[in-house]
Amino acid sequence: MKSASTHLTLVAGARPNFMKVAALVHALHEHNRGANTPITFRLVHTGQHYDRSMSGSFFEDLGLPAPDANLGVGSGTHAQQTAAVLVAFEQDLLAHPARLVVVVGDVNSTLACALAAKKLCVPVAHVEAGLRSFDRSMPEEVNRIVTDQLSDLLFTPDEGADENLRREGVPPARIHRTGNVMIDTLLRQRERARDVHRFDAFKARGPYGLVTLHRPSNVDDEATLRRLAQVLGEVAEELPLLLPCHPRTKARLQAYGIRLAERITVTEPLSYLDMLNLLADARVVFTDSGGVQEETTALGVPCLTLRASTERPVTVRLGTNVLVGTDPERIRAAFAQVLAGRAAQGAAPPLWDGRAGERVVRVLADWLADHAEETV
Ligand code: UD1
Repeated sequence: MKSASTHLTLVAGARPNFMKVAALVHALHEHNRGANTPITFRLVHTGQHYDRSMSGSFFEDLGLPAPDANLGVGSGTHAQQTAAVLVAFEQDLLAHPARLVVVVGDVNSTLACALAAKKLCVPVAHVEAGLRSFDRSMPEEVNRIVTDQLSDLLFTPDEGADENLRREGVPPARIHRTGNVMIDTLLRQRERARDVHRFDAFKARGPYGLVTLHRPSNVDDEATLRRLAQVLGEVAEELPLLLPCHPRTKARLQAYGIRLAERITVTEPLSYLDMLNLLADARVVFTDSGGVQEETTALGVPCLTLRASTERPVTVRLGTNVLVGTDPERIRAAFAQVLAGRAAQGAAPPLWDGRAGERVVRVLADWLADHAEETV
C-alpha cells in the first residue's frame, strides 16, 4: 500500500499572498521538525504576479523555497486571469494529487484554485476567511464570498470574521479562529527590516509619509486619481511622501497624463523588507491596501485609508486605522489630526501574536489524521 498524494498543496499567486504563505511554510517546517508524521506539501505559484518586484524579491526576503510549480498565468481581464488559473491549476492538481488545497487571501488565484480543487472533489482550506467589506464592486469581495462558500476549513483572523461566516450559513464546525498569519511574518521579519539601508538617505532628511495606491476604484477612474494626486501633493508640502508605485497605478498615471508633485518621491514597488523598514518609521501612511491597514496597526503607525469601506474593521476598532475615503476635505482633516499628534492610538488585536501559522498547522494536522487517505 502506497500513499498516492502529497498532504497539502499551498497556493500563492499575487504579492499579498506571499507573506501569508511564508507564515504557513515556516509553521509547517516547525511542525515537521518534531513530528512522527511530517506534513508533506507542494507550493504552487500561479504566476498572477510575475515581475521581480512583485514576486521574486518576496520569495528571497521571506526565505520562501522556490515554488514546485509556476503556472505562469500572468495578467489579463478578470475572466481571462481566473480562467487561466482554473485550467492550469486543475492540470497541476491532476498531475500532483493532494489531500487538501490551501488557499490564502482574496486574489483571483485564491478563488480559481479553490474552485478547481472543489470540482475535483479535493477539500479546500482558506486562510484569512471571513473578511467582508460589504462592497461587491470590489473584485476581492466576490473572491472572498465564493472562496468561503467552497471551503471545508475556514481559518479566520478575528471574531468579526467568524460572525460574517456564521451569518452566511457556514457551519460553525468549519470555522477556526487562528489569528493573523500576515502578522506572523511581520513580527518574524521586523528585526531584519531594521537592518536594510536602501532608504537611509531619504529617511535622514526628516519625517516622511508613505503612500500605497492601487485599488481599481481609486486608480482606474481618472477623476478620482486626479483628486487623490492633488490632495497628496498638498500633503507633501507639509510632509514629504514616498510612493512605491504599483504597475497598475503607474500605467494609469501615464495614460491620464497626471504628474505627481515634486515632493512625492516615486519608486518601483518595494521588496518586503524595504517596505517594512519604511512603514515602521513613517509618520503616517496613506493607503488603499488591505494588508497595509493591518501592518500599520501592528506597528502602531497612523494609517489613513483612502477607501469608503474596509474588510478589516478590527484595524479601525482596535488599531491605528481611520477610513478617510477619497474626499479631499476628509483627507486634509485627518492629516491635520496626525500632524497635531491626535492620530488614532491602537493596540494589536487578539491573536496578532506571531503564532497564527502554528495554530493553523495544528488544525491541519488533526484534520489530516481524521481524514486518512484511501490508499492505493
Ligand atoms: C491584485 C489583486 C489585489 C491585490 C493586488 C496586490 C485580484 C483581483 N487583485 O491586483 O487584490 O491587492 O494584486 O498587488 O486578484 N502587473 C505587472 N507586473 C506584475 C503583475 C501585474 O506589470 O507582476 C500589471 C499588469 O499590467 C496587470 C496590472 O498590473 O494588468 C494589474 O495586475 P493584476 O494582478 O491583474 O491585479 P492587481 O491590480 O495587481
